[in-house]
Formats: sequence, structure tokens, C-alpha cells
Amino acid sequence: MEAYLDEIAAQIKELGPIEAIRFLAQKFPGQITFSTSFGWEDQVITDMIFANDIPVKVFTLETGRLFPETYYVWNRTLENYQKPIYAYYPDAAALEEMISKKGPSSFYESVENRKECCNIRKIVPLKRALAGNKLWVTGIRSEQSLNRHDMSNLEWDEQNQLIKFHPIFDWSLDEVKAYIKKNNIVYNTLHDKGFPSIGCAPCTRAVAPGEDFRAGRWWWEDQSKKECGLHVTA
Ligand code: ADX
Ligand code: SF4
Repeated sequence: MEAYLDEIAAQIKELGPIEAIRFLAQKFPGQITFSTSFGWEDQVITDMIFANDIPVKVFTLETGRLFPETYYVWNRTLENYQKPIYAYYPDAAALEEMISKKGPSSFYESVENRKECCNIRKIVPLKRALAGNKLWVTGIRSEQSLNRHDMSNLEWDEQNQLIKFHPIFDWSLDEVKAYIKKNNIVYNTLHDKGFPSIGCAPCTRAVAPGEDFRAGRWWWEDQSKKECGLHVTA
């Protein structure tokens, strides 16, 4: 796998993000998919895919607990591009069982409960969304967390058994903002209110200036436990 990844990495090395996505869409026709959480990194990539008519399936994990602002961006994005964004919902029976037993806010009570909720609302639906694909595109950037510094823009995802590609991995936040501005892209206004990283509403809050990008996610937990399992690194 290592050699195969190196070969693909060499093929896209000189390409910009749009050309790299186009190249990979040709290499893995019908087996490449992009996950959007409607954060601004993801809005940049959605624009690259839709505005350039690149055949990549775009999906979102609809946890049912997203911010109203996120739903607004979702709607506006559909209107602007007139292309489908596939929604993956949690399994109704699993969700009903968890909430019947533990109530709607069990995630604040223990790390175990929080992981159970993330598993039902995100991880299981993610598996369905990724099934049959060979390549998964995300909006991860290296400066988002210490953990992400050690990653690279192309990697093998052992857990999901596919290749992951992060087209704007090396972009700074200023580059993301400049692209959004230049192309007049709709973005989540929470970003202007101290939310660098936006997940589910009950589990995301604003951060103070200078605080870590992800400090507002699951802020009540130990730093070491703050992992939702969507992006597991070796
Ligand atoms: S997470 O690990 O904390 O949940 P983060 O919010 O940093 O992830 O987003 C990183 C990437 O994960 C996004 O660019 C997007 O590709 C994917 N992602 C995160 N949340 C979702 C979601 N609800 N639906 C689809 N993709 C998501
Ligand atoms: Fe549940 Fe919070 Fe995880 Fe969303 S982020 S799936 S609400 S625990």
C-alpha cells in the first residue's frame, strides 16, 4: 500500500487542489466521495467540486444536532450550485434506544456516553457513506491541531480501508478566507463569532483569541479524550 500511495502522491505533487481532485476523480471514477460539515474549509472544497463539475459525490453526516447556522449554509449551498448533497442520518432504532435510556444530552455525563453518541450519529452513518468508495476527500488542514501536523495530504485509512485526501491540507486560515471572499462563497457565520471548528451544537462552543482551533469542541473533556473517531490517526 505504501508504494501505491507514494505513486499517487507523486502524480498529484505538482497539481493544485482543483486539478488534484479532478485527477483523482478520473483515477477512481464513481469511487471518490467528499464529506462536508459545511465549515469554511469544506465550503472551499465543495465549490472546487461543484463549480468545476468534477464527478465527486458530496455527502454530509446529519447528526440531527447541527447549528441552525449550519443548516442555513447547507440550504444556500444547494440553491447556489443546484447539485445534490447526500445526507446520512443515524439509524433510527439505535438513536431511539440510546435516547429512551439516557435522555437527549447523555454526552455530557461521561466520555463513554459521548463516544456512544458520536458512534451512532457519525461513525456508523460514515461507514455507510464510505462503503464502495476507494477515496475519501476531507477538509482537514494541518494547522487545525497538533495531531494533524503529523499527517500528510494523502494517507491510508486503515479503519475504513481507503485512501484519504485532504486537498487544502497546507492552506493557512487566511488562504481559506481569501478563497471564500474571492469566489463569494456562502460560509457559516459562526466562524466570525469565535468558532474556528464547528461540529454539533451541544458539543461546540466559541474559543478565546489565541486558543487552540479545536478548544471549543467537547470542551468539558480531557484534552487526550477529544477524539470523535471520524479521523483516527495511527
Ligand atoms: S471532527 O473529527 O472534529 O469531527 P472536523 O470538524 O475537524 O472533524 O472536520 C474535519 C473534516 O471531517 C471535515 O472537513 C469534513 O470532511 C469531515 N466532517 C466533520 N464533520 C462532518 C459531518 N458532520 N459530516 C460530514 N463530514 C464531516
Ligand atoms: Fe453526539 Fe455531541 Fe458527538 Fe454530536 S458531537 S454526535 S451531539 S456527542
